[in-house]
Amino acid sequence: MVLRWHIQRGDIVLPKSVSPERMKSNFQIFDFELDGAEMTAISGLDRGKSGRTGPNPDQFDDIPD
Ligand SMILES: NC(=O)c1ccc[n+]([C@@H]2O[C@H](COP(=O)([O-])OP(=O)(O)OC[C@H]3O[C@@H](n4cnc5c(N)ncnc54)[C@H](OP(=O)(O)O)[C@@H]3O)[C@@H](O)[C@H]2O)c1
Repeated sequence: MVLRWHIQRGDIVLPKSVSPERMKSNFQIFDFELDGAEMTAISGLDRGKSGRTGPNPDQFDDIPD
């Protein structure tokens, strides 16, 4: 579902899996569409920890709880 959320946002996603079942389910993200409430619910999971991504590893400051 989160892969579908990315696609609808216009993000580029590069899913990779060694599991045939998950490879199949990853292709199925084009078989359904999330509605506005579902998109908002997933977006609401953001905790504002922007330090978890970025080009400089010295500035990576998000240590998981
Ligand atoms: N990370 C980067 O900075 C980067 C940069 C450029 C290119 N790439 C390319 O992008 C691709 C992905 O890279 P990555 O670093 O994300 O690979 P990764 O480290 O192998 O991460 C993929 C993980 O997602 C899991 N997964 C896949 N589908 C899932 C699903 N439906 N549900 C739950 N878990 C799922 C996989 O587990 P299972 O295998 O057990 O399913 C695997 O542990 C690769 O081809 C890589 O070469 C990555």
